[in-house]
Amino acid sequence: MSDNKTGLDQVTLAAGDKNIVLPVLHPTLGAPCIDIAKVPKETGCFTYDAGFTATASCKSAITYIDGDAGVLLYRGYPIEQLAEKSSFLEVAYLLMNGELPTTGEFEKFEHEVTHHTMMHEAFKSFLGGFRHDAHPMAMLTGMLGSLASFYHNDLDLEDPEQRRMTAIRLIAKVPTIAAACYRHSIGWPIRYPRNNLEYTTRFLHMLKEVPSEPLELSPVAAKAMDLLFILHADHEQNASTSTVRLVGSTGANPYVSVAAGVAALWGPAHGGANEAVLKMLAEIGRPENVKSAIDKAKDKESGFRLMGFGHRVYKNYDPRAALVRKMTHEVLGQLGVSDPLLDVAMKLEEAALQDEYFVQRKLYPNVDFYSGIIYKALGIPVEMFTVMFAIARTAGWVSHWLEQQEDPENKIGRPRQIYTGSANRDYVGIDKR
Ligand code: ACO
Repeated sequence: MSDNKTGLDQVTLAAGDKNIVLPVLHPTLGAPCIDIAKVPKETGCFTYDAGFTATASCKSAITYIDGDAGVLLYRGYPIEQLAEKSSFLEVAYLLMNGELPTTGEFEKFEHEVTHHTMMHEAFKSFLGGFRHDAHPMAMLTGMLGSLASFYHNDLDLEDPEQRRMTAIRLIAKVPTIAAACYRHSIGWPIRYPRNNLEYTTRFLHMLKEVPSEPLELSPVAAKAMDLLFILHADHEQNASTSTVRLVGSTGANPYVSVAAGVAALWGPAHGGANEAVLKMLAEIGRPENVKSAIDKAKDKESGFRLMGFGHRVYKNYDPRAALVRKMTHEVLGQLGVSDPLLDVAMKLEEAALQDEYFVQRKLYPNVDFYSGIIYKALGIPVEMFTVMFAIARTAGWVSHWLEQQEDPENKIGRPRQIYTGSANRDYVGIDKR
């Protein structure tokens, strides 16, 4: 794990004949950060960092990643320990509150989440407005945004208890809404949440149970889903979380802030990758075709990338991918499912990890490389894969939103730009152009 003992407390920026001293901020773990806030005032220049590859946008105590060492900590706890010993709902509590709950605290939290899972009946008419073939991520984005219409006028964001209840409502309702979106797409009636079930099992029932017969759910299905939810629960300032924070920084309604996070998650470079991985594996079809897929991914002209490979932060094996890989074998084994796509995935991973192109660029499988195979084995349709991610990441989004609302340094997010358009010019009438 990298440390923060560089010994640097400040750096000096030589700008023309001026030396500007910039303070260095030290995190608990990880690389120190140069505070560049005074650069524009002192030099007349802005700083440029496309895609924020080198810039911290906030201070946060929620999640730590060491991408070179392949380390992921939620509130200081290694992801491997949480994956083995905890549950998604306990992890959600941890992310939100900073500490693992006592028995009493967990019971209260679980009770609150369980008793906020219902959605207003008016949602059924919203759902009815979507075409049956609408993508569930499109529906989820719209439905979550519309939650703001139920919780807006009376919502006092200055009140910590109301903020906490907003977070609980979101963690509770997103699975209900997500399952309803799916059922709309296949023409099934909505299944109401059952309070006698635990969070993940309740979701699987809402998703899969038909009214005519009870659902026989394998314990490995609930275990695997809970693990995937834990692994996807947070990942510090990724694109969707940064989106939630950016919208949240304006003081906007939290439900639309989270809806914006869902929209950002949908892209194939982010949460949409799990759907893209399965489509890619199906296209490759057989282990014999892996070599040509690798060659195509290395050819920049092709525009093809290996989906589920590479990560902005991990330059080592994504620790979540290792856990999902293990669970994939367990799920397929226990459910007695044999999936030829798993053979393609393993061959692809093996070939890429030995290929100079991928080795040099430190491109390893990410969390989404194997997750789609588990979802497929559990009978979850491909279009729902990113929705699964969104359910889990809601815990992270609301935790970041809560943290941001309490942050005395929170300002409206407003990046600058390098303008590359025309210089000042005069309007020319249409007859003279
Ligand atoms: N296949 C082939 N080449 C790749 C891949 C890939 N999956 N990913 C990166 N590269 C190459 C790039 O072409 C580039 O090569 P170059 O240096 O010769 O130009 C180099 O590796 C660096 O790539 P960047 O795009 O600069 O890396 P960046 O950090 O911006 O992107 C990203 C990370 C978006 C995840 C990228 O690796 C990617 O597109 N992966 C596939 C999509 C994916 O799996 N996304 C899920 C991410 S995890 C998550 O959101 C949960």
